[in-house]
Amino acid sequence: MKRSEINEAIRFSKGLLEKNNFRLPPFAYWTIDEWKKHKDKIGTISRVMLGWDITDFGSEKFEEVGAVLFTIRNGDVYQKSTGTPYAEKVIILRQEKEQKIPMHCHRAKTEDIINRGGGVLSIQLYGSDKQGNIDNNEDVEVFMDGIQYCFRAGETVEIQHGCSITLTPGLYHAFWAKKGAGDLVVGEVSSINDDNTDNVFTEPTERFSAIEEDEHPLHPLVNEYGKL
Ligand SMILES: [Fe+2]
Repeated sequence: MKRSEINEAIRFSKGLLEKNNFRLPPFAYWTIDEWKKHKDKIGTISRVMLGWDITDFGSEKFEEVGAVLFTIRNGDVYQKSTGTPYAEKVIILRQEKEQKIPMHCHRAKTEDIINRGGGVLSIQLYGSDKQGNIDNNEDVEVFMDGIQYCFRAGETVEIQHGCSITLTPGLYHAFWAKKGAGDLVVGEVSSINDDNTDNVFTEPTERFSAIEEDEHPLHPLVNEYGKL
């Protein structure tokens, strides 16, 4: 991805979050110089990877396959005393080309995916077979806001504003902003998140994109604090 594309995605996301009365923690708005000024205090932020996370999953088609994610809180899988024993993210998806997070499941993380506002969240679901691969046959049982539902393998479910779905380890999911329904603010509340080890994608995917530096970064990304 180009840095200019990442900067534009961050500016757009801040605007959409403001419109939805969703305010991020202070470090979301720090400039690079402010990050450098706080360098001695950001050990936990850096270790548990809080902050901006913009990715096209290696697709080079950010508007179709990609997302702006912001990790608000998180812990450390290996050092439970660092951070919190839970995680929260906000995810911005644009509706024009049904921007999507591609099909994946988690090895360990259980997550609630929540429609926080702006549009309609479409999510496609599959279970996994004994080898851990996608299961094209078996129905999928999931809880949505405390009530259990059963869906066919590969069925797409629409989640409206305020509603959520609980995804347990091994449950494959891809989700996107439904076209015509508005740009979308998604919440994620989960067990501790480790994006370096926990994601199983069905297609070859880069979780963190390579970046072409065509302008100065507005903010560092979660995997760039070491460079400050
Ligand atoms: Fe997920």
